[in-house]
Amino acid sequence: MNNAFLKDTLSSLSSTPKTLSSRYFYDAIGDGIFQEIMQMKEYYLPACELEIIKNKTKDISEEIESEKIDVIELGAGDGTKAVYFLKALMDVGKEITYIPLDISDNVLKINKEHISSQLPGLKIEPIAGDYFETMKALKERNNPKLILFMGSNIGNFKDEKAVDFLKLVKSYMTAGDALLVGADLKKNPKTILAAYNDQAGITKRFNLNLLTRMNRELGANFVVKNFDHYAFYDPASGTTYSYIVSLEKQDVNIADKTFHFEKNECIHTEVSQKYSIADLEKLSSDVGFKKFTPFLDNKGWFCLGLMA
Ligand code: TRP
Repeated sequence: MNNAFLKDTLSSLSSTPKTLSSRYFYDAIGDGIFQEIMQMKEYYLPACELEIIKNKTKDISEEIESEKIDVIELGAGDGTKAVYFLKALMDVGKEITYIPLDISDNVLKINKEHISSQLPGLKIEPIAGDYFETMKALKERNNPKLILFMGSNIGNFKDEKAVDFLKLVKSYMTAGDALLVGADLKKNPKTILAAYNDQAGITKRFNLNLLTRMNRELGANFVVKNFDHYAFYDPASGTTYSYIVSLEKQDVNIADKTFHFEKNECIHTEVSQKYSIADLEKLSSDVGFKKFTPFLDNKGWFCLGLMA
């Protein structure tokens, strides 16, 4: 039995209101459903970000003086996105070493194979583990660093936690280094809501997979059809909230504990923060960076922000 998962689950379901940690979305099944989300027409984020990478990497590279750069990617995944970024950097003559960091050793193997097949000759030095641990290795590197934190992951940190996380990243940086942060921008609220509430129910499957995972790994007895997915975007704060809703009054057992759900009681599972350019400028200066340069897609829906 997975102890951290059990411990976190028992405590987060005992709180009022009930919550579940979004870190447990990504088991093998969740990874697969997330791939489906990234293909959905409503989930505009990956296409916008890729457009920026394809069109703006040259401009981004001009902000970095050094010829030699260590490109460090936090939460690198399979590297499909990074390939375009790295290629564009190589095309302008930068001499790079790519250091993908990811919690999954398995995905890093896929990453390395994919990238070295597309960009033969590129130096790749993957490091597996929790990025709070693996980032420590960055202190020992001598080349100027470009740290990538893409894919809107920053939006999943609540409030001050985003500032705290970036401050931690900054503590591993020295003068001349830069951090490129992906962030989803505030836009028509209906466009944002649809991205988290698709017609085909893929996001619903993703959210409810948490229950299936608890049944399988923790011996819980959630009746999944008695729960629904609910997403809500607050345009005033720019926050998207995802919930699991109990459709009935019901009890669920996990380990030797019983959790009671009222009809329509909600379990909060994720926040996805959306930003204006001014919000991002403020975030960057709150973290202590002196310079912020935004790079946007044509629709102005997504931003890769360079903080230095
Ligand atoms: N965390 C990602 C995001 O904010 C992934 C995600 C997409 C997600 N849809 C979701 C997380 C629905 C929870 C619920 O975009």
